[in-house]
Amino acid sequence: MDRFDTARALVLAAGARLRLARPEAGAVWEKTGHQDLVTRCDRETEQFLRSGILSAFPGDAIVGEEYPATPPGGTGCVWYLDPIDGTTNFVSQHRNYAVSVGCYQDGVPAFGLVLDVERGALYSARHGGGALRDEAPIHVSHCGVLRDALLTTPGVLHTFLREHPRRAGLVELAGAVRGVRSMGCVALELCAVAAGEAELFVALRSCPWDHNAARIILAEAGGCICALDGAPLPQDTGSAVLAACSRPLLEQVLAGISANTSSRENG
Ligand code: IPD
Ligand code: CA
Ligand code: CA
Ligand code: CA
Repeated sequence: MDRFDTARALVLAAGARLRLARPEAGAVWEKTGHQDLVTRCDRETEQFLRSGILSAFPGDAIVGEEYPATPPGGTGCVWYLDPIDGTTNFVSQHRNYAVSVGCYQDGVPAFGLVLDVERGALYSARHGGGALRDEAPIHVSHCGVLRDALLTTPGVLHTFLREHPRRAGLVELAGAVRGVRSMGCVALELCAVAAGEAELFVALRSCPWDHNAARIILAEAGGCICALDGAPLPQDTGSAVLAACSRPLLEQVLAGISANTSSRENG
């Protein structure tokens, strides 16, 4: 099996395990605080994915949320694993969480897989091959105006309520769009933009394992993504993220945010 097929089989198997699992009492822990959970299932799922990948491709590097990165072994392939994206949803709702696996070859996106576990929907894309939900092609929305756009953000508190230099611009954006939604799962929210179910995505904080798989799916579905200042989104470090269904809509949002950025940031 090639890497894509291996990843697909592992993601589906991980999803089947998670569907049956329940976050047991005594196996849910706080990492940095009560809004940042990890469960035994997060750890076991990451170990399951890591061992499946490394037994098939021992020279590949792995960057995952719950364990230290494995160093590159010479193949030029780096995997980004989020075993459960949306751990809070997994614990509180047992839905709206995803298994997210992205793979880059020599810094070039190779493929991304995002499984909406409880819905049983697998988003996937190979570089240059378009984006799919299960076997059906998906495409971003054709909406080009803010007043008709839906904005999704995984972290309402950070995006709109905490003080930060771009807050005024984002609050204004929230008033300009048709509506704001929050699922609490970066990967599924980016896939919603890829599938035409939302037009904009913004996150103040996102890590490579949160967005590196879904960004490939979004790009293959015709969308665009960048940092909040318009710079390219880095592959290996955390960043604020802006994504849109089209370049003109992205540019419009960037212009609005930059016009509203506090002088502290501009100066
Ligand atoms: C988190 C979720 C959440 C987002 C956080 C992420 P996790 O991932 O995607 O929606 O607001 O920034 O860290 O911890 O559940 O994998
Ligand atoms: Ca986490
Ligand atoms: Ca995550
Ligand atoms: Ca996670």
